[in-house]
Amino acid sequence: MTEKVYKYVIVGGGVSAGYAAREFVQQGLKPGELAIFSSEEFAPYERPTLSKAYLFPEGAARLPNFHVCAGSGGTKQPPEWYTEHGIDLYLSTEVKILDVEAKSLTTSAGATYKYETVIVATGATFVRLADSGVPGADAQGIYYLREIDDADKLLAAIKDKKDGPAVVIGGGYIGLELTACLVKNDVKVTMVYPGPHCMPRLFTPELAAFYEGYYEAKGVTIVKGPRATEFEKDESGQVKTVKLKDGTTIQADIVVVGVGAKPRLELLKGQVAEEKGGFKVDGFFKTSVPHVYAVGDIAAFPMKIYGDIRRVEHVDHARKSAIQAVQAIKAEEKGETIPEYDYLPYFYSRSFDLSWQFYGDNVGEAVTWGREAAQASSSKFGTYWVKDGKVVGAFLEGGSPEENKAIAKVAKEQPAVSSKDELLSAGLSFATTI
Ligand code: FDA
Ligand code: NAD
Repeated sequence: MTEKVYKYVIVGGGVSAGYAAREFVQQGLKPGELAIFSSEEFAPYERPTLSKAYLFPEGAARLPNFHVCAGSGGTKQPPEWYTEHGIDLYLSTEVKILDVEAKSLTTSAGATYKYETVIVATGATFVRLADSGVPGADAQGIYYLREIDDADKLLAAIKDKKDGPAVVIGGGYIGLELTACLVKNDVKVTMVYPGPHCMPRLFTPELAAFYEGYYEAKGVTIVKGPRATEFEKDESGQVKTVKLKDGTTIQADIVVVGVGAKPRLELLKGQVAEEKGGFKVDGFFKTSVPHVYAVGDIAAFPMKIYGDIRRVEHVDHARKSAIQAVQAIKAEEKGETIPEYDYLPYFYSRSFDLSWQFYGDNVGEAVTWGREAAQASSSKFGTYWVKDGKVVGAFLEGGSPEENKAIAKVAKEQPAVSSKDELLSAGLSFATTI
């Protein structure tokens, strides 16, 4: 039997895949040129919705409403969109082998396809406590979140257990966003995380104190410091308690774990160069092997603005890296070049009535303004990070679209600042007046 040959193949059907498909179409894709292989059952969707509106007790988001590219104000791409554009979308189809020398892939069903150019966009998966040998971590009632399937299991548990209690392990993005969703569903939550405060990758102690205080005011109990060392189950295998290193035992009918992500590198392992825990790519998302591109969470790319190599596990980069890769592929076909990727880090989160954005780099001295006024939840406050006399990072809680644009501009332009006092007294106007 002749194997089907595609001009382009995308392996992985998440955020990057959806935005790459749209860019191919915008660049003049011909029917039959592109195939997408996804182990998920659904056409690419905006993954951030899963830890937010998907879990709301009322007005919950459901497909097709959050298919890409709805999250960035674009047109939604339900499965029919792919058919209309002559794209073969293979759903519930895991790629088991990707042979970059033979330019072929094999699915879990044993089907083989050939390609000319491949974009690998396999994203990440959650770190499991069972993998680090925590006793009882395989109990029923312990939930992780990456895909719709995971979110549906958590929703069923919320319905089944009514008011919990729940223990959320991890104080990062998943921990904070899912705690807020559980509270909205009237579940009583205890958060447990190591270290002195939540969101250690980004927050200063001062920023963390605000968010922790806000969560406590919503009825959340926060236990900082000791790790979970064991889960006890009942005779049916259902989790009953979480034991901490300091001997504390917390009752739990639901446990939600968010202790970090690990990129899914299996398919290209040993075939392309790696760096920083991902696949090393250039400013066009080309790996070390010709015609093999890697985008989104798995790509370790040159962060031009800071002159180093980084991996970024956030949606804005997933979208932009995919667009950049497709533009580079199309430009090369025409013998043209495009500018190298010049990414300004952008992270955000929303929970309860809170909403923050961050741009740039959180290095150097952190200067937080407006915190006293921020005791009222509607107030704005923020942080600037200053390195070598320049503002290199900016965080804003409660900003309007214009104000968020202003802090992005600060992080991009890196204006000089004479003293910490200048930033403290100017606050947001430092950003809005440059
Ligand atoms: P993504 O994970 O989106 O897609 C990878 C796809 O590849 C999946 O469909 C997977 O099943 C598939 N796949 C993997 N291996 C495969 C194989 N061998 N064969 C076939 N298919 C395969 N970021 C942010 O900036 N703001 C936010 O609010 C959030 N919120 C958020 C919530 C939740 C619950 C999660 C899990 C993550 C976020 N993020 C986020 C992070 C953001 O969603 C993430 O960075 C992007 O989805 C990454 O896009 P990718 O396309 O790289 O992977
Ligand atoms: P994270 O790295 O943001 O947070 C991990 C948290 O777990 C930290 O608080 C850390 O101290 C804690 N931790 C680590 N090991 C632990 C252990 N053994 N026991 C208890 N706590 C432990 O990761 P996450 O929150 O799991 O997020 C997963 C992925 O999803 C990331 O890629 C993240 O970027 C992405 N995500 C992003 C957003 C957003 O950008 N708004 C929202 C949700 C998810």
